[in-house]
Amino acid sequence: MIKLTPPMGWNSWNTFGNNISEQLIMDTAKAMVDTGLKDAGYEYVVIDDCWSLMERDENDRLVADPAKFPHGMKYLSDYIHSLGLKFGMYSCDGTMTCAGYPSSYDHEFIDAQTFAEWGVDYLKYDNCNKPETLPGRYLYNKMGMALETCGRDIMFSACNWGADGVEHWIKETGAHLWRSTGDINDSFASVRDLLKRQVYYQPYNGQGCWNDMDMLIVGMNGNGNVANGGCNMTEYTTHFAMWCFLASPLMIGCDLRNMSDDVLALLKHKELIAINQDPAARQAYCVRSYWPGNDLKNPDNIWDGMIWVKHLEGGDIAIAFCNLCGCDIRQYLAFDEIGLDKGTGKALDITEVISGEHIGVVRDNLIMNMKTHETKIFRCKVVER
Ligand code: GLA
Repeated sequence: MIKLTPPMGWNSWNTFGNNISEQLIMDTAKAMVDTGLKDAGYEYVVIDDCWSLMERDENDRLVADPAKFPHGMKYLSDYIHSLGLKFGMYSCDGTMTCAGYPSSYDHEFIDAQTFAEWGVDYLKYDNCNKPETLPGRYLYNKMGMALETCGRDIMFSACNWGADGVEHWIKETGAHLWRSTGDINDSFASVRDLLKRQVYYQPYNGQGCWNDMDMLIVGMNGNGNVANGGCNMTEYTTHFAMWCFLASPLMIGCDLRNMSDDVLALLKHKELIAINQDPAARQAYCVRSYWPGNDLKNPDNIWDGMIWVKHLEGGDIAIAFCNLCGCDIRQYLAFDEIGLDKGTGKALDITEVISGEHIGVVRDNLIMNMKTHETKIFRCKVVER
């Protein structure tokens, strides 16, 4: 097992897209250390699409574009490792990557070998331009075997956007994480859509094969490759808090060289990260946020006022009130809805984690006025009434 809790790191795509270089990646790795993000748990530095030349070499190997990466990938990998960080790269199961670069279809074993020789620790594996007759299941199993036998521990990050019923077969491929959704963009509409889709996918989440809700947009502020208007700080906080709560991998997507203090403080929020990295690794469940019997795959069937619950290591209970509505609402949870009826003789001693406010012992229910797009995360100890 490479890692028992969701991976944390940075990925080049959301902000930089095609605009990547050796200098950018080195500066980003350095910034990950200097800003304290490494100490907060972030470790993978991942180069996404657009890193290679358009042609393989005479030995059929992928070649890093020397204009972008003049010293090659092993040099970069050595530098990243010298900072105590891990190095991630990107390929795809089709004939070309999503951005049209050479890809690993029919080259799975030789590419896994190349990545191993370069000291790669993490491979994001996309799903564009694959032969239509071949199921994703076959191609992800093939790369899974190639990675498993390449002689190096490489975290396998599957990225087929929830296609081909991936939740039913992804664990058999050896993937350590798998994208359950289409691409995020820097807007609250995107955050809201991805979150609602997790009600269906959450039962498939779990230790060793995390449900990846896509890279973070916190701190992009309307700039970069997936820009779409941006979010305010309340909305970025909801996004980050819920990705933490639902045990998604936490791959930062903003420019680490250029973050405001509030963005950095959010990305390093100790108590939120502790919920994300909780060693018990139990899936969260959604309480009363949809009509029973509706198709949970359709986000239109999930309410804007979501309530999620998660049982943590040692018996604490985390509760999320999440208001995805464009208006203020009042959210309500009766404790007997989560198994703590009066007959148990128990109550909850509650702290709101984002603000750090200790609310105290609450006996029967929790009622909150929630501002538009706001989230509150409660960490609760079970105590006597
Ligand atoms: C797909 C993936 C994205 C990103 C791009 C790169 O759209 O889902 O996360 O990797 O390809 O082209």
